[in-house]
Amino acid sequence: MDHRKNHPHCRVVVLIGGNGSNLQALIDNQAKFSAYSVVGVISHKPDAYGLIRAQNALIPTTIVDHTRYSDRQAFEQNLILAIESYEPDLIVLAGFMRLLSSEFVERYPEKILNIHPALLPKYKGLNTHQRVLDNKDKEHGATVHFVTKELDDGPIIAQVKVPVLPSDSVESLRARVLSAEHKLYPQVISWIAQKRLKCDENIVTLDGNPLEKTLMQGIVS
Ligand code: GRF
Repeated sequence: MDHRKNHPHCRVVVLIGGNGSNLQALIDNQAKFSAYSVVGVISHKPDAYGLIRAQNALIPTTIVDHTRYSDRQAFEQNLILAIESYEPDLIVLAGFMRLLSSEFVERYPEKILNIHPALLPKYKGLNTHQRVLDNKDKEHGATVHFVTKELDDGPIIAQVKVPVLPSDSVESLRARVLSAEHKLYPQVISWIAQKRLKCDENIVTLDGNPLEKTLMQGIVS
């Protein structure tokens, strides 16, 4: 069956590992942007709540449980089979907590996106909110970037900033960043789906103009 006849938009497969609130934002904003469709959700954890969110939205799901494979190569072979069954145009990581090999990443050049809860290149890795508080930063945010084999290191596409308040805890900061993520990610994915956003040699353009990476608040309202 040719899936493209049923889904004229950019086919997005979302890779998750947890709560799936970004997945929910992508699902909830599909109609608003009408440029992409979430056609499948893959989780590397069988108990990820995001799987329920997908099922509630009648989106097919696949579990590729990383603990069931002896090595990363075997895990990735099954991940590739799952991904390709959905015939995606874009592979969107949203809380997917596994590093991907260079062989995997090179198979999908500029087709894999991730969202990270920090203003990269600051705070790669985990516990970003705690590290921001420890360093008494005044601002924090989230970054959408292309995925390479290095952790949180691919070309930056767009960022959104949020303030850090004196009263903030890790939880309050996490909530503020997440709510900014939920606006940023669907917007960026719809720009890519509409072929308005392009990345050539690390220069990101929107409608042919360089995109100011850290000025997303005005655009993502
Ligand atoms: C988000 O903070 C995202 O930036 C990071 O993992 C978290 C996923 O949250 N990559 P959710 O599963 O989308 O709620």
